[in-house]
Amino acid sequence: MANEPIKAARYVSIPEAVALLHASAVVALPTETVYGLGANALDPRAVARIFEIKRRPRHHPLIVHLADADHMLGYAEVTPAAWSLAERFWPGPLTLILPRGPLALPMVTGELPTVGLRVPAHPATHAVLTALGAGIAAPSANRFGHISPTTAQHVAADLGAEVDGILDGGPCDVGIESTIVDLSGETPAVLRLGAISPESIAETLGREVSLRTHAEGGRATAPGQLSSHYAPRADLELWPRDEIDARARSLSNRKVAVLTDADLGTTSQSWAKNLYAALRAADAGKPDLILIPTPPPGALTRAIHDRLGRASAPRTESMMEHPVIGPSRSKAR
Ligand code: TXA
Ligand code: MG
Repeated sequence: MANEPIKAARYVSIPEAVALLHASAVVALPTETVYGLGANALDPRAVARIFEIKRRPRHHPLIVHLADADHMLGYAEVTPAAWSLAERFWPGPLTLILPRGPLALPMVTGELPTVGLRVPAHPATHAVLTALGAGIAAPSANRFGHISPTTAQHVAADLGAEVDGILDGGPCDVGIESTIVDLSGETPAVLRLGAISPESIAETLGREVSLRTHAEGGRATAPGQLSSHYAPRADLELWPRDEIDARARSLSNRKVAVLTDADLGTTSQSWAKNLYAALRAADAGKPDLILIPTPPPGALTRAIHDRLGRASAPRTESMMEHPVIGPSRSKAR
């Protein structure tokens, strides 16, 4: 993908981004997690273009990004649990799934009775949201099934001139997609792991939270649950760091790329921040195989393992059980 010529992308300012969104255009926007492909959430024509540009199946719901937690009203039936998570974690890398309200268009929710909402932390996108005065529906700004973009240049490489504008806000701080919590059912459930841990959600809610990060019965509730999501072109293998060089040598008949601390850093935070850029860079050399060391222990390690598992699916498919995480088990975030 990165070896294909980059089609001319148009970089825009904050006021230009707002004007484009008012005019039913689609604009790539920075967030603290990954770049989003944004359209005015109240404009069906603009939202339809997101699906065309991404080549994304229509039934996959989009997250609505908001300037402020108060703006949830109208888009969703806001529960006390939602207010408490919003107060603790927004702006930040957390998406709440709630029963939809009248402002949540069926096209945005994939016809589901629920809607995903998030207040992102990036100042440029906050300025766009405030000036627009509406929510912005945005999936990650990559082609469907490909690795999420963490720089404006990744967006340009994936979508080029098909997107009407790209607002360059620099590299994303967190680097992997938001934690998704479904508050629409009996028990709160984490649908996607991210920088906000299930334990810190359980602690804030004062109740148990279940983990539903893999689809049951083959149907994904969230497309992020698809096994082979977030995938580079090459195969991916995870190895303990003291065995990785030997593994690379044993593959002398294949073209191998090896990721190191120089690409990823030494903490789980630096790994999350650098992972997608490193996979894209490695993939650009068209290797048969990318070898990656086991991530260091830390707050984001589980979420990194989750993404690496999906990036290497179906070979390293690891179906999780459905553990329940209680508020008292850990205070780690
Ligand atoms: O960090 C993020 O969440 C980024 C930035 C741009 O905000 N967005 C992102 O969007 O990752 P996307 O579309 O690539 O992934 C959103 C996930 C999908 O797996 C989707 O199925 C799920 O959120 N989702 C959205 N609305 C939902 C709903 N009503 N019920 C269940 N899952 C939902
Ligand atoms: Mg995505």
